[in-house]
Amino acid sequence: MISPETIDEVKNRLDIVDVIGDFISLKRSGQNYKALSPFTNEKTASFFVVPTKGIFKDFSSGKGGDAITFVMEHEAMSYTEAIRYLAKKYGVEIKEDVAREEAVTQTERESLYIVMNFAREHYRELLIKHDEGKSIGLSYFRERGFNDRTIEKFELGYCLNEWDHLAKTAVRKGFSEEILEKAGLIIRKEDRKYDRFRGRVVFPVHNLAGKVVAFGARILTKEKDQPKYINSPETEIYHKSSVLYGLFQAKNAIRKEEFCYLVEGYTDVLSLHQADIENVVASSGTALTEEQIKLMRRFTENVTVLYDGDAAGIKAALRGIDLVLKGGLNVRIVLLPDGEDPDSFSKKMGSTDLKKYLHDHTQDFVSFKIGLYSKEASHDPIKKAEAIREIVASIAVIPDAIKRSVYIQETTNLLKIPEGVLFTELNKLLIRERDKKIQDKARNADVKEPLEAAVDISPVPKTDTLSLIQMQEREAIRLLLNYSESNYEEQRLIDFMLTELDEMEFTDPVLNEIYQTFRKEAGKNKVIDTLYFMEHGSEAVKNIVAHLTTPRYETSSHWGPKYHIYFPHEREMVHDLAFTNVLRLKFRLIQKLMEDNMMQMKNTKNEVDLEKYFTIHEQLKNAEKDIAGILGIVISR
Ligand code: CTP
Ligand code: MN
Repeated sequence: MISPETIDEVKNRLDIVDVIGDFISLKRSGQNYKALSPFTNEKTASFFVVPTKGIFKDFSSGKGGDAITFVMEHEAMSYTEAIRYLAKKYGVEIKEDVAREEAVTQTERESLYIVMNFAREHYRELLIKHDEGKSIGLSYFRERGFNDRTIEKFELGYCLNEWDHLAKTAVRKGFSEEILEKAGLIIRKEDRKYDRFRGRVVFPVHNLAGKVVAFGARILTKEKDQPKYINSPETEIYHKSSVLYGLFQAKNAIRKEEFCYLVEGYTDVLSLHQADIENVVASSGTALTEEQIKLMRRFTENVTVLYDGDAAGIKAALRGIDLVLKGGLNVRIVLLPDGEDPDSFSKKMGSTDLKKYLHDHTQDFVSFKIGLYSKEASHDPIKKAEAIREIVASIAVIPDAIKRSVYIQETTNLLKIPEGVLFTELNKLLIRERDKKIQDKARNADVKEPLEAAVDISPVPKTDTLSLIQMQEREAIRLLLNYSESNYEEQRLIDFMLTELDEMEFTDPVLNEIYQTFRKEAGKNKVIDTLYFMEHGSEAVKNIVAHLTTPRYETSSHWGPKYHIYFPHEREMVHDLAFTNVLRLKFRLIQKLMEDNMMQMKNTKNEVDLEKYFTIHEQLKNAEKDIAGILGIVISR
């Protein structure tokens, strides 16, 4: 039992923002703090911390409580475990003997933590103090260039090359063989027991709270039939697919840098730290998993994959990229020169050069994939098609529609292929994926949920085209109101405009009302002008007409003489104004049609329709290009 005094002391000292901030990235919001819920997969923050009350509330999972509740929920700890953890964090002394009597009453999880903690201390001491540890383990780390600070920071150790040195020492201290076996520290066969990691250097694996949950142990000799690494088995406190090596040591740096390097191995993490790059984690011991990505997502949205430049490294990087993208994170890649891993390369380069190299060689995944295929692809259309498919396949796994469309744009620019081609390919994949998910759901027949689209394929929201159209509509009406009787190449301006705009419906209802009035009444040879609308128009119409007929350009007479700049009165430019206005309006309308078409394209499930939309897209694109040419506009897409 922990004494009530100790518990009070912990409660007095803790600061909820500090406690929670160790696990997730909090953003200040007025007096309070906000974050993405660590308990769900939400996209907008609904997790709040109220420091003045010492509580948190997570609206997306419904969880809430004080700092202790948080630690219990987040780390799956018991109340005692949470208090112990906080006591350690705040340097509160717990008055009791953990080892002997209490070990019996501990829950199994607590016992596992205690025995792992014991093993860590045991291995560390052997590495630093024992003759064998020093001459074999420590000298190995030295040879590899790891300094005391790194060895300290990662709590590296050594397991003696004897059958059961750890087992015996632990039993003498009161730990049972059962718990040692459950922790994966020893192996029991028949009547014999032996240390799992004997003769190896050990890398403790920490959970987010800094407790050791596992070890990775590297061989030091060149025995062929022995694996290079032996790792702890799965235990009640260690699920390897949901732990990232180095995250405990990296979390503050990740928050600060706002991104995280992902490497493959223990030694890569260590070397980067030693080169002063601390925002790094490894998926050590397993291929990267979805859970590991979720874990990373608690700290940052940005991951930079840093793998070897050889074929295996590239293959692993490709797999990693798609998983990270699927997890909703942004992914970048640094490819190291062939034959180098982050460990060897950082030692060759030194801290400054390494940082510069990483900075200069970070690519987004589209460029990376293009780079991979480009050598062959530039000459070979089949290879190029393959490259395109590879890139679009990665884009298709991104959950966010806006991001997908940004990457499509980039691919368009880099590969110089019409975006229609890419969207068609993308849609094919999205639709296939959606159908698959729907089928999967249907197969679980007892769950009778409505079959909603599993993938969000809603189009990119783009509000500005409409307002650009309405700007031109307003200009058209302004010209008509002010200059309808002016001359336009032998005809009246109003005749020119009505011929060009013809049966068009304006998107703005009030402007449309005015335009339709011009069309109907002008035919009857009536003069339609400001006065007419002031007499016949609705309030909304009168309002706009008054606004549009107030003179806009003023000839600033004093500028002319001074700067030799002559501002012509608008009346003299009305010809040009009407011409450009009509073209601009059409230009914007075409863009709107393209957007609508794109939306149809994205929503269709039918391959034949896709072809149809694709043709329409190409036609609109040509029209857009023609008008842009006349107007001298550079199309940004
Ligand atoms: N690994 C493993 N078991 C093995 C080999 C590798 O669990 N038999 C894991 C380890 O987590 C290792 C990572 O895969 O860190 C990457 O493997 P590798 O590049 O071979 O190891 P390094 O960490 O680079 O070790 P070293 O530099 O000492 O060879
Ligand atoms: Mn290595």
